[in-house]
Amino acid sequence: MISKKEKENRREELQKKLQRYSDAYYSQNESLISDYEYDMLLKELEQLEKELQIENKSSITQKVGSSLKNTKFQKTTHKTPMLSLSNTYEIGEIEDFLLRAKKNLNMTDNLEVEMEIKLDGLSISIIYEKGKLVRAVTRGDGIVGEDVTENVLQIESIPHELSEAFDIEIRGEIVLPFSEFENLNKIRIEKGEEVFANPRNAASGTLRQLDPKIVKERHLAAYFYFIVNAEQYGIHSQKESILFLEKLSLPTTKICEIFQDSSKLEDRINYWSSEREKLPYETDGLVLKINDISLWEKLGSTGKSPRWAVAYKFPAKQVTTKLLDITWQVGRTGKITPVAELEEVELSGSRVKRASLHNYDEIVRKDIRIGDTVFIEKAAEIIPQVVKAVKEDRTGKEKKIEAPEHCPICESILEREEGLVDLKCINKHCPGKIQGEMEYFVSRDGMNISGLGGRILEKLLSLHYLENVSDIYSLKEKREELEQLDKMGKKSIENLLSSIEESKKTSYDKVLYALGIPFVGKVAAKLLAKESKNILKLQTMTEEELQQIEGVGEKMARSIVDFFQNETKKQLIQNLIDIGLCFTLKDGVEASTEAKIWQGKNFLVTGTLSKYTRAELQEDIEKSGGTNLSSVTKKLDYLIVGEKAGSKLEKAKALGSVTILTEEEFLALKEKLTKQ
Ligand code: IVH
Repeated sequence: MISKKEKENRREELQKKLQRYSDAYYSQNESLISDYEYDMLLKELEQLEKELQIENKSSITQKVGSSLKNTKFQKTTHKTPMLSLSNTYEIGEIEDFLLRAKKNLNMTDNLEVEMEIKLDGLSISIIYEKGKLVRAVTRGDGIVGEDVTENVLQIESIPHELSEAFDIEIRGEIVLPFSEFENLNKIRIEKGEEVFANPRNAASGTLRQLDPKIVKERHLAAYFYFIVNAEQYGIHSQKESILFLEKLSLPTTKICEIFQDSSKLEDRINYWSSEREKLPYETDGLVLKINDISLWEKLGSTGKSPRWAVAYKFPAKQVTTKLLDITWQVGRTGKITPVAELEEVELSGSRVKRASLHNYDEIVRKDIRIGDTVFIEKAAEIIPQVVKAVKEDRTGKEKKIEAPEHCPICESILEREEGLVDLKCINKHCPGKIQGEMEYFVSRDGMNISGLGGRILEKLLSLHYLENVSDIYSLKEKREELEQLDKMGKKSIENLLSSIEESKKTSYDKVLYALGIPFVGKVAAKLLAKESKNILKLQTMTEEELQQIEGVGEKMARSIVDFFQNETKKQLIQNLIDIGLCFTLKDGVEASTEAKIWQGKNFLVTGTLSKYTRAELQEDIEKSGGTNLSSVTKKLDYLIVGEKAGSKLEKAKALGSVTILTEEEFLALKEKLTKQ
């Protein structure tokens, strides 16, 4: 049992902490802890206040948004307060919310629920008079907000005039789409400026610029979800509100789903939990609203949030933890990468102890020190990334991280190529590099050999059973030695050896990929295989000849020539030829029966797709006679863009000659052409 005194102390501590976090979030666009951790502390405080029977109007638990202490903008009072939403991370609590609403309404029948995306930006209220946009105000503390009209007028998707001369107040969220967020940060890095930690901070920082020109440049977007006093316009449900907004050409997310009861809700929540990655903007959850607007007034609000809506928040993608140390790793190309060793935390359902930090320059740019509280994030990558350090939490005891001078594996002196950020180990015999090469060689996109994971490779390397990738094919002569090894049972040795034998059938393009020529990825390896037809030809091609191949640029051409001139590599390729690996093109791809609708056309697929993976779409294109390029060049005919398409889309647009298609448009075009 915790004593009353202890509860009082904890309550005070939480008040102070949360006030500090909230001030930083709203006034400095700065997150000191993750949203999830904030919500959990807030819930703990709410619970304590309940237990201690404290009703304090000035408690942080009663507040909506910021206090507007240091605003540079004119303050405006909202005619209708802008409330917040109560939230939960538990699907089960949604059922409780619905039961409570039914009870309050004395209802026994089903209650229709509408579900939308919860956008993670900043809320805005916009007033149109006689159809003209006259005022745009931020939420502020819910009662008084900041007048940001001039800035909102710079947002392209917000109409200055409606198609009908309505007097209307609408509410929604201003966000910075992922593609714009990435562009903005890229420019900031180039200029040596600090990057924005996430799109929300960037959107909020942008809208608070005093210079509207900057707002215009950054391409904010807005999505609306609420009409104040909607019934005035003959609207009876939330769904009708969304349709009404769309009719007025006001942007909405178009995601608006209706449920007659809660049975199918869970499925859809799970669906959106994974699909959200494909949306072009950041979302932190879903909002569930009782669809019938006439019930809203009956349910009322708690002062802070309405009783007719609840937010379900997705599991946290970011959490904070302590950075304990940095370990340096060496990859197949000799690139040295720092790995963050962390105090173990839970992130999206798994325990995390290590995270990636790209390169030393990133550590310097983000000013990350050992002992810092850091944000870690699981994005599209499987390995979590360190996002930033919380400088406000520093005690002075944190240690700066020095760049290593020696390779962590072979201890040779590291080099840094001019103009490049990466530190490199240039020792040809570095076991760390060789292990990296081998992991790449056996990977699924390469020779697809199973049973040679990192640990086993490390062991075989240390015993000198393997010195280069061709030795993998001699492992069958070392069966007895393998049997002596720890954790290598007869069955797993059998499987490994047969997987090695099987890999001899791997096609020429995959063998080329597996060789690990710098800058030659999967797509480029296919192009090179198709053009050269066999390795003997490829080995003799000059830089100029290589550059004639569509999709092969200067850097790649030089790298290929260098690779084939290297004596060790020449010997290795000869060994692999002798072993019987496939170094000539078989007409697998050409033999397909698909109609050659894309003959002579060049494609590039970029961004995150929704229906197919990028590899599937590329294969599909090839089957129909098209060619996949690896970069945007003048010869590119079609660019297929998924979500978060970045610089490739910009380049293609700038060329003007490229047809840009979404995945759906591509599939529709394919269907049309196939039918002809
Ligand atoms: S409805 C009366 N719908 O989330 C409350 N809010 O955490 C009306 N938000 O203040 C809000 N997406 O800024 C609503 N589809 C959505 C939303 C949404 C994001 C924001 C909004 C709200 C905050 C609460």
